[in-house]
Amino acid sequence: MSKRSFSLHSPLDMHIHFREGAMLRRVAPLSAETFAGGVIMPNLVPPVDNLDRLERYEREVREAVDGHAFEPYMTLFMRPYTESELASMKDRIIGVKLYPEGVTTHSDGGVGDLRDVERTLALMQDMDIRLMVHGESTDFVMDRESAFLPVYEDLATRFPRLAIVMEHITTREAAALLDRHENLYATVTLQHLMITLDDVAGGLLNPHLFCKPIAKRPEDRDALLALALEAHPKLVFGSDSAPHPVDKKECAGCAAGVFTAPIALQMLVGLFEEHGALDRLQAFVSNNAKRIYGVAPPEKTVVFEKTGAVIPERYGDVIPMYSGRELDWKVAEAR
Ligand code: DOR
Ligand code: ZN
Repeated sequence: MSKRSFSLHSPLDMHIHFREGAMLRRVAPLSAETFAGGVIMPNLVPPVDNLDRLERYEREVREAVDGHAFEPYMTLFMRPYTESELASMKDRIIGVKLYPEGVTTHSDGGVGDLRDVERTLALMQDMDIRLMVHGESTDFVMDRESAFLPVYEDLATRFPRLAIVMEHITTREAAALLDRHENLYATVTLQHLMITLDDVAGGLLNPHLFCKPIAKRPEDRDALLALALEAHPKLVFGSDSAPHPVDKKECAGCAAGVFTAPIALQMLVGLFEEHGALDRLQAFVSNNAKRIYGVAPPEKTVVFEKTGAVIPERYGDVIPMYSGRELDWKVAEAR
């Protein structure tokens, strides 16, 4: 008989957008219910790029998850930083996130020319501060990640002691880089393990599956899934859950972002079960991240039951991936 119950210990989401204000208060508890911690992205307006903003934002996040065993791992938005700035913030962050200028939501203040942050990267390497990267160029949309890969290789080679996380990888070429450079790691989202561009735009346009980087070809999805199912030791789960209000998704000029936080774990359990890999899920959603990032999240056990459930149509004004669809697994308990 197939398994009816399954548990995960202290699952982690190593790439989340929590936003601020009312949106933060709505979405953060949904992550904190099941996840034991997560990496909170800094692409706000204005970006999180100084100590005062970082402290205030961390306080706001902690208030929003109050009552849950959830550790937020804060990040800084990349700009040229001085040594004393980095020293003052080092202990409060898990890394610095580099957005190339203009490639995604709220990245207008991103890095236009990498030479502008050379010195900062050297400081980060010396100070043991991790670099996290939205790795896309401004080429043709399907080629943006592959066009960026030489930049990863160049950074990994020139800064061999800098830990570099390729965020939300979407191509098999990016997956292949993990084994080529010791200091390269990656996060991968739920949607990029499940969908291709066909699901986004092959039939009627589905704005709720539109994100950056855009979902790619079947062979890319399959390569990423293979890596996740084997719980590749340099790959971790990062949902890139990115809530936008429904009027910013169902409109002309749809914002990029897929909202998966409340359903990601249940769907991962189903996906790993379908591929006979449930025994690898603990490593993919927690153990790998604990080892790679050196974090010790709060103890939390999440029990899943195979009793069937339906994904809610909406959470307030945010529509999740696959809203209204049936799920095999539901969260029975998180403690
Ligand atoms: O689809 C995305 N949404 N990709 C990103 O890189 C940013 C995110 C957001 O903040 O909405
Ligand atoms: Zn993101």
